[in-house]
Amino acid sequence: MDHASRPGADGEFEARNAVVTGAASGIGRATAQELHDRGANLLALDIDPAVVNQGPDDRWTGELCDVTDVDQVEACMASFAGSHGPLDLLVSNAGAFTAGSTIDKLDLETWERGLRINLTSHFIVLRSFLAHANADPPASIVVVGSRNVAAPGPGAAAYSVPKAGLVQMVRVAALELGARHIRINVVHPDAVFDTAIWTPEVLERSAARYGLSVEEYKKQNVLGESVRLWDVTNAICLLLGAAFARTTGAQVPVDGGHMRVI
Ligand SMILES: NC(=O)c1ccc[n+]([C@@H]2O[C@H](COP(=O)([O-])OP(=O)(O)OC[C@H]3O[C@@H](n4cnc5c(N)ncnc54)[C@H](O)[C@@H]3O)[C@@H](O)[C@H]2O)c1
Repeated sequence: MDHASRPGADGEFEARNAVVTGAASGIGRATAQELHDRGANLLALDIDPAVVNQGPDDRWTGELCDVTDVDQVEACMASFAGSHGPLDLLVSNAGAFTAGSTIDKLDLETWERGLRINLTSHFIVLRSFLAHANADPPASIVVVGSRNVAAPGPGAAAYSVPKAGLVQMVRVAALELGARHIRINVVHPDAVFDTAIWTPEVLERSAARYGLSVEEYKKQNVLGESVRLWDVTNAICLLLGAAFARTTGAQVPVDGGHMRVI
């Protein structure tokens, strides 16, 4: 079969088995919803118990799962593949903003927590997924990185260093998986202002730091547009699907054209 000729957009992922991590909130939740809307059977994983009851129908399985725990992740993947068949799509998204301290004051615990949640967990998830990945049609994977990789900021080493390592893991994985036609790519969002971390207080504080209004702060890129959840989830879905059938090992920014990234 020519895997580049799959139908696009609505229904593109019908009967495909998709796994999304960090699916209880933010980018993960919106992506899970989008994949579901495009026809996929969802395995939604999160450490937040809310994930268990978020599904609208029986094409959505929510499981409590800590992505830093090998046994939990392997059990969830094996159980879903056992009941639904081989796994087609993975969005490795769960992460945490382990920032707030410059390197001279950064404690080892925060550094190691950053590595565990923002790097090692993606290795655990990827390896577990690959044990059940579909060969035909070949599985497709997107990992959620960050604008911080290309344009790091001070005080965020425990976040941007593991995120940079994540890119290297994806590049190596692309080399290893190419012969099986399994694609793996990274999406780098800039700040997504309609997610929970960007409360009005955080926005005001951050804008004030640069002497900007909140509206100016949200649109600091060459397009002068703020990045929305939809921009990120749509990019993830396109990368997973036929639109990018000849792309692997790539990094796609969703940042409005961030000055320091360009
Ligand atoms: N929101 C942004 O502005 C932004 C910008 C760039 C990159 N990102 C990246 O996008 C991804 C999602 O971020 P978000 O803003 O949607 O965050 P969020 O906090 O809204 O969602 C993250 C989810 O991951 C879950 N999670 C955390 N630790 C987990 C663990 N050990 N096991 C399972 N689930 C766990 C949380 O419970 C939460 O539901 C992260 O990788 C983040 O680094 C976010």
